[in-house]
Amino acid sequence: MSGNRGVVYLGAGKVEVQKIDYPKMQDPRGRKIEHGVILKVISTNICGSDQHMVRGRTTAKTGLVLGHEITGEVIEKGSDVEHLKIGDLVSVPFNVACGRCRSCKEQHTGVCLTVNPARAGGAYGYVDMGDWTGGQAEYVLVPYADFNLLKLPDRDRAMEKIRDLTCLSDILPTGYHGAVTAGVGPGSTVYIAGAGPVGLAAAASARLLGAAVVIIGDVNTVRLAHAKAQGFEIVDLSKDAPLHEQIAALLGEPEVDCAVDCVGFEARGHGHDGVKHEAPATVLNSLMGVVRVAGKIGIPGLYVTEDPGAADAAAKMGSLSIRFGLGWAKSHSFHTGQTPVMKYNRQLMQAIMWNRINIAEVVGVQVISLDQAPEGYGEFDAGVPKKFVIDPHKSFSAA
Ligand SMILES: NC(=O)c1ccc[n+]([C@@H]2O[C@H](COP(=O)([O-])OP(=O)(O)OC[C@H]3O[C@@H](n4cnc5c(N)ncnc54)[C@H](O)[C@@H]3O)[C@@H](O)[C@H]2O)c1
Ligand SMILES: [Zn+2]
Ligand SMILES: [Zn+2]
Repeated sequence: MSGNRGVVYLGAGKVEVQKIDYPKMQDPRGRKIEHGVILKVISTNICGSDQHMVRGRTTAKTGLVLGHEITGEVIEKGSDVEHLKIGDLVSVPFNVACGRCRSCKEQHTGVCLTVNPARAGGAYGYVDMGDWTGGQAEYVLVPYADFNLLKLPDRDRAMEKIRDLTCLSDILPTGYHGAVTAGVGPGSTVYIAGAGPVGLAAAASARLLGAAVVIIGDVNTVRLAHAKAQGFEIVDLSKDAPLHEQIAALLGEPEVDCAVDCVGFEARGHGHDGVKHEAPATVLNSLMGVVRVAGKIGIPGLYVTEDPGAADAAAKMGSLSIRFGLGWAKSHSFHTGQTPVMKYNRQLMQAIMWNRINIAEVVGVQVISLDQAPEGYGEFDAGVPKKFVIDPHKSFSAA
């Protein structure tokens, strides 16, 4: 048995690379399983969702091994695994799903009913998601492997595209899901809130879906400059001009067909003074303001049931001051929740392999070693226009 090392959450603002247990073929409840595989991790990305925990904005316990964005090589398999071979390269959807329950059968793998005793939905290395060990590590267990894993094309072709394929475990399907559920299609005008990796992935997805124009808004001017360099229109919400005016300056009208919230509950207010404070309902309210009547709003941005770090008592329980009457009056549709990655990852893999989408460049992939993970967390938190991809076994340089 080999050793293992992983990125461990040690309390607000602190992560460290530590020795951790090598994975066992058992679930977090201690039951032995035969449907799992153990992966040697080829790449594992740092996500904005991890930052909510690392900033101390969730009820995550210290000692949690982080990491839900995983690509790996099968090195051990249980006796019930029929379709995967030792040596296969696989992309891991961040959702842990059983493939057997009603949700999974209806393609809602983000809310599997059996992998988390506390609520619907499982994920690796994430608070409230069933205690599955995270994959920002050298090795990780994936249960229900035949169902969960997407086998990548042959090793050489996959390793040539690994910087792009690493985005299949979460942000590319998540951005795509945001765009699809916002109703993006040929000729759409689209507004995307948030120029982080998920916002950029949603923008690239909107382009893939045929949008006429894609506008990205943020309060971070460095990220906006990166978005602009990638060919998207931008609006700077740290300026006092309101969102609808900035959209009107670009489109000649103050509305868009579709909008995607790629920010979530840690949203900042708008304008020179607003940006100094968190205002968790800002994005949702502003999207209802700018989406045309009968339009759709995709909401991959994360909202929580408990936020110990929130400014007021209501927000501590996840209650926000949403102007729901406005959305109702405009017949808006809203789509929330964890992305069911499996619904999209195979098609998006093909889009990558056939050069239909250059996601690594759009999101600014930067490859780092496992030992550099704490610095990666720090820089990402400071708002650099990058997506940090950890390469625990130096597989990228070998390829
Ligand atoms: N639904 C899912 O399955 C899923 C999957 C992955 C990530 N997420 C969530 O998506 C969100 C984005 O992820 P990320 O990795 O890009 O995070 P990130 O933190 O890197 O990016 C968020 C961006 O939003 C910007 N922002 C803050 N207030 C804003 C405002 N009012 N208007 C516009 N922009 C504003 C920030 O400056 C930042 O650049 C997070 O909430 C993350 O948890 C959800
Ligand atoms: Zn993620
Ligand atoms: Zn299930």
